[in-house]
Amino acid sequence: MKIKIAPSILSAKREELQDEVKEIEKIADMVHVDIMDGKFVPPKTFLPNEIEAVKSKLPKDVHLMVNYPIKDGFIDAYVDAGASIITVHQESLDDVGKCIAHIKQRGIKAGITINPPTPVQKIFPYLDQVDMVLIMSVNPGYAGQKFIPEVLEKIKVLRSMKPELDIEIDGGISKTTIKKAAAAGANVFVAGSAIFNKDDRIKAIRELRDALE
Ligand code: DX5
Ligand code: ZN
Repeated sequence: MKIKIAPSILSAKREELQDEVKEIEKIADMVHVDIMDGKFVPPKTFLPNEIEAVKSKLPKDVHLMVNYPIKDGFIDAYVDAGASIITVHQESLDDVGKCIAHIKQRGIKAGITINPPTPVQKIFPYLDQVDMVLIMSVNPGYAGQKFIPEVLEKIKVLRSMKPELDIEIDGGISKTTIKKAAAAGANVFVAGSAIFNKDDRIKAIRELRDALE
């Protein structure tokens, strides 16, 4: 499986987003964009126009931590803002099957994700419809939290069912935890603080990649 590193710009300098993305795009594979509505999780993050304003040759991997991806217009707004893939939570309150269908109708890729307490079986009905599954390895809302190792079992189960599917992991990824996630079968790695809390972002990404060799 191709290894992909997706830096989460939640931890980037907000006033210098374009420069931050330009820097990481030399070596990263996707830009991970965390969207929070202040309800599904307490914080609120990037508006569609902020994301649209960031130009990048990398795909924008939009992770919607929102209650109503369709009803509140999040899917349409971030498709219009240039998302390449949008991932919705199984725990969202809109019909998740409809969310996935809506994203695909808009002509981009769709993903589904689950929080650490949610059993992996909850996403089995959607596995043939999505381009990527995201396993949360922290409870969503904030960068810089501690990795929850119990979620690795879910990745093992998914990888045995879907040898070719992109399986992304998000939360607490470091030089140490990335190895465990890869051994379980993940191939797409989100990292926020492990990259943007370092002065040298390129070196930080290289160290994550090197940890997998
Ligand atoms: C958490 C977000 C993550 C977060 C990861 O709710 O979904 O993408 O930015 O940050 P780190 O890598 O610091 O755990
Ligand atoms: Zn995320």
